[in-house]
Amino acid sequence: MFNRDLYNPKMFVIEKVESLAPDMKLFRILISKSEYQPGQFAQLSVLGVGEVPISIASSPTQKGCLEFLVRKVGKVTSAIHALKKGDKIGIRGPYGNNFPLEEAQGKEIIFLSGGCGLAPLRSLIRYCLDKRDKYGDITILYGARTEKEIIFKKEIDSWKKLPGIKVYISLEKGPAPGDFTIGVVTALFDRLRNLENKKIFMCGSPLMVRFAAGGLLKLGATNENIFVSLERYMKCGVGKCGHCYVGGKYVCTDGPVFSYREARRLGVEG
Ligand SMILES: Cc1cc2nc3c(=O)[nH]c(=O)nc-3n(C[C@H](O)[C@H](O)[C@H](O)COP(=O)(O)OP(=O)(O)OC[C@H]3O[C@@H](n4cnc5c(N)ncnc54)[C@H](O)[C@@H]3O)c2cc1C
Ligand code: FES
Repeated sequence: MFNRDLYNPKMFVIEKVESLAPDMKLFRILISKSEYQPGQFAQLSVLGVGEVPISIASSPTQKGCLEFLVRKVGKVTSAIHALKKGDKIGIRGPYGNNFPLEEAQGKEIIFLSGGCGLAPLRSLIRYCLDKRDKYGDITILYGARTEKEIIFKKEIDSWKKLPGIKVYISLEKGPAPGDFTIGVVTALFDRLRNLENKKIFMCGSPLMVRFAAGGLLKLGATNENIFVSLERYMKCGVGKCGHCYVGGKYVCTDGPVFSYREARRLGVEG
């Protein structure tokens, strides 16, 4: 728990800012205890500007730090992008549920993401890599628009060298040197086999999630084994304001991680 006080965002000093791609920056904050789970999010704020929900991109196995990948899209994310090393940022959290870590133990895992959807999955990928003996083989499918927009490039290269891990990347636009595939992330699906018992974790745009889930189901995956992290509009993040309420659930407290069966029932497949 780094700060659950709804009315008093605690200020933290930014230890490092790294530009990972155009309009995408990784912010690192030092904390004393890593009390959060992969899949959870925090509310980041800039005084006088506002507050936004951002997934935690680090893993609790990385002791003493929190990392957030922020894409600059509007008012608050632009203000966060203007912050530098040594500046202060308000943080509340951690909030929301987490990816089902125990259910995935002993199983082969597929991670599927597009754009900055890799950020919440990176938390779980790093967690699984740090507890390697508990999880089966890992396949990572990642779609970016262009090579320049690939985030966590160095890390992805290091994952590729690990035993039991396969990484495939698709680019919507070329040039595509090396082993990239041209197309959207579903263009990588010919690499997938025997999905019946595999756990699949997804995050990306609603359109990507809908198309990808449809393709995975056709390949034998089950609704119960696919988990999706939903990025719905939020305000309070703690089940009070109703902004994220959909189909009888609060995405901020009942989610943001849902099985695909549940997401379909809620009518928010992506
Ligand atoms: C649980 C959760 C986790 C998230 N994790 C991340 C993350 O790890 N990294 C990241 O960069 N972003 C993440 N987001 C999205 C982020 O919260 C929004 O981009 C942010 O709130 C935009 O605020 P703004 O003031 O900069 O933009 P605004 O000025 O409010 O809006 C600018 C544009 O962004 C669109 N927008 C605003 N909020 C959202 C949203 N929630 N989803 C889609 N489009 C939106 C608006 O429609 C508008 O077109 C997450 C959202 C949720 C709910
Ligand atoms: S964001 Fe306020 S209830 Fe979910």
